Amino acid sequence: MKILMIGDVVGRPGRKILLNDLDNIKKELGADFVVANLENASAGRGITENNLKQLLNTPIDVITMGNHVFNQKETINYIDNYPMMVRPLNYPDHVPGKAFTVVERNGKKIGVLNISGQTFMPDMDSPFDLSEKYMDEFKNQCDILLIDFHGEATSEKIAYGFKYDGVASAIVGTHTHVQTADNRVLPNGTAYITDIGMTGPINSVIGTKTDIVLEKFRTKIPQRFEVELAYPWKFNAVLIDIDDETGMAKDIKRINKVYDKTVLEGEYRNE
Ligand SMILES: [Fe+2]
Ligand SMILES: [Fe+2]
Repeated sequence: MKILMIGDVVGRPGRKILLNDLDNIKKELGADFVVANLENASAGRGITENNLKQLLNTPIDVITMGNHVFNQKETINYIDNYPMMVRPLNYPDHVPGKAFTVVERNGKKIGVLNISGQTFMPDMDSPFDLSEKYMDEFKNQCDILLIDFHGEATSEKIAYGFKYDGVASAIVGTHTHVQTADNRVLPNGTAYITDIGMTGPINSVIGTKTDIVLEKFRTKIPQRFEVELAYPWKFNAVLIDIDDETGMAKDIKRINKVYDKTVLEGEYRNE
């Protein structure tokens, strides 16, 4: 089973890449199942229901989110209507949405968990305590367990990776929007990367127009962030090869596809 997990999709550039090219990418890479982090898909802040519906016409099977999940006010009202959408486990129990979902593919039950880190993140419960409490329950419901760990701190993500090495099929980081070069299969068979990276505009500060972010750093005055729309854009993901017998990973590859002029002229680089 080959699983494609896509890093934070940012604004119109990210959406356009998925709408125009994900069919093709999925075929080229021979992926059987696709997970995408869409926490920044609408103007960099959460996702509107309209954008969500559009993107569900692409081959995305499960949507993960992060700290921006409720940035669009409507999300709290529609999230429970989309069983394929998960948000971090760290929210209080009474908050709408869920953190874990199971989808069947090729006779296997694929479980996807979204969990947030605590270090340098908005106020969140401990991912370690929450996982101690719920991991057996999640693991028992699926043959293949994929975890999107949405966090800032490299060390926290690596520590979590080792803690659940041999339990999860894959633990992949999201949130920093910068692809790390530490993709590997851990000693007990879990595919791991600290961050998948971003699907969005390259000449930006993690998706936002550079002059706006610079102004914020220079003056400390809050700014209204705008997604950079200019090319080049990039598609960042990982392709994970899972052993169907054991449910553990055989390989994890980084994907970095760059779009110079139009979304139909993309080229794979650095792989
Ligand atoms: Fe993000
Ligand atoms: Fe985030």
